[in-house]
Amino acid sequence: MVESTRIVLVSRPEGAPTPANFRIETAALPEPGEGEVLLRTLYLSLDPYMRGRMSAAKSYAAPVEVGDVMVGGTVAEVLESGDPSIAKGDVVQAYSGWQTHQVAPASGLRKLDPDKAPISTALGVLGMPGFTAYSGLLKIGQPKAGETLVVAAASGPVGSAVGQIARIKGVRAIGIAGGPEKCAYVREELGFEAAIDHRATDFADQLRAAVPDGIDIYFENVGGAVADAVYPLLNTYARVPVCGLIANYNATGAPEGSDRLPGFYGRILTKSLTVRGFIQTEFVREMYKDFLHEMSGWIADDLVRYREDIVEGLEHAPEAFIGMLEGRNFGKLVVRVG
Ligand SMILES: NC(=O)c1ccc[n+]([C@@H]2O[C@H](COP(=O)([O-])OP(=O)(O)OC[C@H]3O[C@@H](n4cnc5c(N)ncnc54)[C@H](OP(=O)(O)O)[C@@H]3O)[C@@H](O)[C@H]2O)c1
Repeated sequence: MVESTRIVLVSRPEGAPTPANFRIETAALPEPGEGEVLLRTLYLSLDPYMRGRMSAAKSYAAPVEVGDVMVGGTVAEVLESGDPSIAKGDVVQAYSGWQTHQVAPASGLRKLDPDKAPISTALGVLGMPGFTAYSGLLKIGQPKAGETLVVAAASGPVGSAVGQIARIKGVRAIGIAGGPEKCAYVREELGFEAAIDHRATDFADQLRAAVPDGIDIYFENVGGAVADAVYPLLNTYARVPVCGLIANYNATGAPEGSDRLPGFYGRILTKSLTVRGFIQTEFVREMYKDFLHEMSGWIADDLVRYREDIVEGLEHAPEAFIGMLEGRNFGKLVVRVG
């Protein structure tokens, strides 16, 4: 009998999550039945959306119930298979959650070829975050050569891919990131035209100076003070793919200060803005195959670079996840489990 070590949700956070919201435990797994496989997790992806799953608030996906294993994308090795399409020893992209082993239906798995790309990239640049950047930018951002794009969380998996794809399309990419080290990486390694530290006291002035022709695409990853600085700089007919609002994920109430909604709507009206939210799953059927093909080519041609922040050991997942919400990760945050 196989035992799975797993991290479960024991309480819902009030504001920022703490280690006390999680517990590590073990559970015995059944034998895989027909059409099922036994998986051993190799890598676990940690992503901002998991903060939403810890909350009971209604959202686009059901919350994790208290006592249940935290959800999450994984790369796993098949230890036993009860399905002819998957063999023992295959490496697959799965959704095993924060645990070392899982019995899962074979139907939801995607086989990976370890000779084509490092398998952990299936959780980052060649996985959900990379696809989010690709689909949100191309479908909603509608980039055109000569335009200017701004994206925050620019050293992370979504933002870094957004800026690099924009550059491939002939767009000036301006990144926003937390701290000088991340900004240097965004400029020098990723080739953004400029990178601005959102923690700098003169952040809004630096941003204005970096976009003398205004902003045509704001790929919204964070909201909060960054969005406040960006909106006045948007050009007529600018597009705003609303991808994430991480600045608000730990909020417990409305932001302080005056109501900014009338000003926000006023700008949408007078500047003819397109502000369109999306969840990447919307575009999977239509665009995932093209994404894998194009992104693999761009990586091979050194047009897209990526960085992984690998944490060793499942037991460190809670603190790594908590740190990501504060910007302590540098690159795609992945836990090496196996
Ligand atoms: N719509 C979808 O389908 C979809 C799919 C995937 C991801 N997303 C969203 O995309 C965004 C980026 O995700 P990711 O996986 O690429 O994350 P990530 O960059 O690896 O990590 C989040 C980053 O957000 C930044 N951040 C945190 N609080 C901030 C604040 N108050 N102001 C400005 N920046 C802040 C931090 O970077 P700095 O240190 O640089 O500030 C942190 O490292 C998230 O909002 C996520 O929820 C949406």
